[in-house]
Amino acid sequence: MTRVAVLVSGGGTNLQAILDAVADGKITNAEIALVYANNRNAYALERAAKAGVKAVAFSPKEYETRALYNAALISLLQEEKIDLVVLAGFLVIIPPEMVQAYPNRIINIHPSLIPSFCGTGAYGLHVHEMALARGVKVTGATVHFVDEGTDSGPIILQKAVEIKEGDTPEVLQRRVMEEAEWKLLPKAIDLFANGKITVDGRVTHIAE
Ligand code: GAR
Repeated sequence: MTRVAVLVSGGGTNLQAILDAVADGKITNAEIALVYANNRNAYALERAAKAGVKAVAFSPKEYETRALYNAALISLLQEEKIDLVVLAGFLVIIPPEMVQAYPNRIINIHPSLIPSFCGTGAYGLHVHEMALARGVKVTGATVHFVDEGTDSGPIILQKAVEIKEGDTPEVLQRRVMEEAEWKLLPKAIDLFANGKITVDGRVTHIAE
């Protein structure tokens, strides 16, 4: 059984999709052992509580240095014997020590088709603002392994989503979540937990 930690910063709709997929049997061989939020007010914490999942919250601001915060977060994951770390709208930079402790065992959902509209500053609603400002006709979402760069690790799954005339960033964000994110992230966890993802350099292979 793969022990999964889901790291969140905000509303947690992707967390909810994961919890629902576990409850519905769409994710097998995995249990959500921990939800961690860097923000004590994150609504995602209530979603975890409702699902009966252990939830922990502390902020980098509560630590004297970023190194101490990073060490506390890694210790928490190790205490909980976590096998897979899932970043589901987690807005804290992942330190190199954590990537080294969990090589190809941290996955992230990003709300665009990487390598478009990603990297530093590309998070949340901004990503959709960038896509609309550039005038692309298709966007989407990507699940990828986390390496030491920003949004640069091996890509696991992608799904395209159409941009429609008159879209606002908010309308587009919702469509990308509904049509792509809430499907891709649970699917990637299920594939990982069932040993179906192999990594060859920057390229993954998925056994269906
Ligand atoms: C999601 O759209 C996720 O893809 C994005 O933040 C949102 C979190 O929503 N993540 C990033 O932009 C990471 N660069 P949620 O809290 O409702 O799941």
